[in-house]
Amino acid sequence: MTRHFLRDDDLTGAEQLEILDLAEKLKTDRFQTTPLAGPQTVAVIFDKSSTRTRVSFAVGIADLGGIPLIISTANSQLGGKETAADTARVLERQVAAIVWRTYAQSGLQEMALGTTVPVINALSDDFHPCQLLADLLTIREHRGELKGLTITFLGDGRSNMAQSYVLACATAGIHIRIASPAEYAPDPAVVQDADAIAAKTGGSVTLFTDPLEAVAGVDVVVTDTWVSMGKEEEKAERLRSFGQYQVNADLMALAKADALFLHCLPADRGFEVTAEVIDGPQSVIWDEAENRLHAQKALLVWLLR
Ligand code: CP
Ligand code: NVA
Repeated sequence: MTRHFLRDDDLTGAEQLEILDLAEKLKTDRFQTTPLAGPQTVAVIFDKSSTRTRVSFAVGIADLGGIPLIISTANSQLGGKETAADTARVLERQVAAIVWRTYAQSGLQEMALGTTVPVINALSDDFHPCQLLADLLTIREHRGELKGLTITFLGDGRSNMAQSYVLACATAGIHIRIASPAEYAPDPAVVQDADAIAAKTGGSVTLFTDPLEAVAGVDVVVTDTWVSMGKEEEKAERLRSFGQYQVNADLMALAKADALFLHCLPADRGFEVTAEVIDGPQSVIWDEAENRLHAQKALLVWLLR
């Protein structure tokens, strides 16, 4: 049966670990395996802007012996003109996998249902699971074991990053805390799914509105833009709502002394995080950005096995 990666909990804890282990191996020797030799092509489709995802998938697919076919929805038939299901049936006869950055999660589900090749979510409004594989890889590199760590994500709890943190951390047996205004809390259905997973892995999900309480003594502090792609019209209101969730030196001082700081990037310095923190000694953002490459290569190798 074809496996897809549409949300973080499409992988079990054991499968997530397997991919992280493989990513670690691929990082030590980038060209050790070429499962896409042929070369086979992987379609990488963008409905939204991207730097890291575009580069890391293009480079990663090439490292694996394949050819990346980067498609902008703006100049394709997808996006209003043709359905995701029909697009999938055209692509599957020519490509080894489909990677798609889009808006609605339902589009990815439609794409996956309609095809026999793996579909990978390269960010939707609801989840950013590829980023989480890179983030977990980064945290593991700096902290050793993931299980039992406590991580706080601050800002837009309903965002793709926050909701992926909820699911991926529950899967890894991590205690995940989300600090956001009540009206930007994660989708209750996502929290419910994560709670069920955490009950088996030993992790937990806790929602906070108080940012200070949420970061007290934690191992890792994470944030992301307050204005995700597609939310630009709400910018003024969002800047007002999220002000007290800024990650600055005073906030970092409440976490463990050696706490890590992560941000998926791009960052709005001076808003969700101060330059002092993101460019400071606790920040591991450049490792995190590099690890997109290794994590996604491992994911592709695993899905194509
Ligand atoms: N973090 C991330 O996905 O970055 P891009 O939007 O540049 O791909
Ligand atoms: N939450 C951000 C992530 C960008 C990589 C967005 O969706 O714009």
